[in-house]
Amino acid sequence: MKAFSNKAEAFEAFDDIPTNPHLDRSLGAVVARRYGRRDVLKGLLAVTASTALFGDAALTSTRALAAASDGFTFEEIAGGVDETHHVAPGYEAKVLLRWGDPLFADAPAFDPLNQSAAAQHRQFGYNNDYIAVFPVEGRSDRLVMCVNHEYTSPEVMFRGVGEPAENDFEKITRELAEVEMAAHGVSIVEIAFENGAWTPVVTSPLNRRISAANTEIALDGPAAGTRRMVTTADPAGMRVVGTLNNCAGGATPWGTYLTAEENFHGYFWTDQKAEKEGKLERLTKGLGGAQQKSYERYGVPGAWYNWGAYAERFNVDKEPNEPNRFGWIVEIDPTDPSSTPVKRTALGRFRHEGAETVVNPDGRVVVYSGDDARFDYLYRFVSAGRYEPGDRTANLKLLSEGTLSVARFNDDGTVDWLPLTFGEGPLTPQNGFESQADVMIDARLAADLLGATAMDRPEDVQPNAATGKVYVLLTNNARRKSDQINAANPRPENSFGHIIEMAAPEGDHAAGRFAWNILIKCGDPKVAEVGALWGPETSANGWFGSPDNCTIDNEGRLWVATDQGENWAKTGKADGFYAVETDGPTRGSSKMFFRAPVGAEMCGPCFTADGETVFLAVQHPGTDGTKEYAPFARLSTFDDPATRWPDFRDGMPPRPSVVAIRKTGGGKIAG
Ligand code: FEO
Ligand code: CA
Ligand code: CA
Repeated sequence: MKAFSNKAEAFEAFDDIPTNPHLDRSLGAVVARRYGRRDVLKGLLAVTASTALFGDAALTSTRALAAASDGFTFEEIAGGVDETHHVAPGYEAKVLLRWGDPLFADAPAFDPLNQSAAAQHRQFGYNNDYIAVFPVEGRSDRLVMCVNHEYTSPEVMFRGVGEPAENDFEKITRELAEVEMAAHGVSIVEIAFENGAWTPVVTSPLNRRISAANTEIALDGPAAGTRRMVTTADPAGMRVVGTLNNCAGGATPWGTYLTAEENFHGYFWTDQKAEKEGKLERLTKGLGGAQQKSYERYGVPGAWYNWGAYAERFNVDKEPNEPNRFGWIVEIDPTDPSSTPVKRTALGRFRHEGAETVVNPDGRVVVYSGDDARFDYLYRFVSAGRYEPGDRTANLKLLSEGTLSVARFNDDGTVDWLPLTFGEGPLTPQNGFESQADVMIDARLAADLLGATAMDRPEDVQPNAATGKVYVLLTNNARRKSDQINAANPRPENSFGHIIEMAAPEGDHAAGRFAWNILIKCGDPKVAEVGALWGPETSANGWFGSPDNCTIDNEGRLWVATDQGENWAKTGKADGFYAVETDGPTRGSSKMFFRAPVGAEMCGPCFTADGETVFLAVQHPGTDGTKEYAPFARLSTFDDPATRWPDFRDGMPPRPSVVAIRKTGGGKIAG
């Protein structure tokens, strides 16, 4: 995530200002008293406690798998930053899809000076994030690729909008706002493997654009059809137009795509202003009426975009319930372009980073999801029904009903899953919950009452089906104070993030209690004050900051993508893609495989089933922290960007793009 805003004063606001008021419930005081600053000791205690609870198997089950692999066989690249991408020697990274590339035979060619909403609806969207691929029946050389388009960067998309700190909403005309809406959402596109490379098939009947502007999406689950989902356009509370801020996601075993609505609050707007220090400022607080508590906990309205000036549904003065219809996991069937995507309200409403799925040994489906904000939580959904291989119709209902739980990390190395069930514990009318719909719409408020652990920005949460391990990527939280630390968030001013490894007991992802320990504490291992923890084979190029997305390759190995945002200069390295050992004596060692161009974030890692291609999404090239990039040292604009990656053509702005990486001549990546 790196959200933008058009107003200088909103920079603070979009930088994930925590909205969780329950920060003092952390175990910080207890941990500080018992363990002081000895994080190493804490780690040892965690392992001991976990082993006592679940036996050695829970923590060592990947060792056999790791022993079968020779580690990651590629030559590491150098950290650093420049205007282009870099990949390990012997590999080629080819651009597959760029912002504006036609997705249909009748789509207009990309013309950045004359972009329109109509053209954008037929072209690849902006700021590509999560990627998943699905097989095409009967075609081993084809895949259907789904890609999220999280947000827009108007300062480099549109001429004349200007530097991000200076541009203002007046420059975002209705026409540009409509291009932005069309550039959000999801692209679905068939790709073919021809002559040793992947290429889009623009004539495929499977191709589809889903956007914020005009895609009809159904509501399903406990909140669908309830009072707080009703709007003027939808008196039944059953249909929503569009999806917003699609960050990471998931792929289900029955072949559907899950897209996660993350910073939805930023799209809501008000006409109301109040005087502040002699200036009239747009209100971002105090507008919720009966939903006041909910608005404040979710940061509604965020006013990062001015779409509400043109479209009433994004204006909370006109449609106070519309924000309740975003912040969900959306399920899309990529095999049927006429199908209606569905918002699955049983998975709760928060700033969903992703939605990674695993089939539990008993057949229930488990979906993990982080709420990406400082001091927010980690969630798990367990379906009521069981996965039936071959019965797709039944499987398509699995995410309609189940139990959502939130994580409480205990200082003894265990983590408890606390169910968000109406009528149980504090989730009652006395505390403002009238129904399960309220509990799902206000999952954050429910989790506050249950005593969940406030984390350092939970991003990807990735199960490894083969081992029962689950990796929790915590990107950073420089706002955590020393009296707010706890065993699972052990560093104050955590600028570089960490990775927690959870172990489901005997692979039971529906269990009420897991074990956990810390795999990595990120940052420079040579700087003592950073307090980093890495495996012994991590080189000066291999360590990283701000882990965000990750994936498990077909050999069960962990790969991590980073998002340092504006703060990449703190590591001196552009964002990249790293191979991380999880077992044996090299556990916690990391190697850099790919480096993104200046100002970009690394997203969407996705391996093909044969392990021979990895797709990566290079998001917002040329935007983040370009003042810190010495050869440029200023903010990027359309006419003056820090890089024109990947085209490097005069007049062509930088373009968020998906790259396909393969070994020269073929073969398994790092295998
Ligand atoms: Fe959109 Fe939390 O990354
Ligand atoms: Ca992310
Ligand atoms: Ca992932």
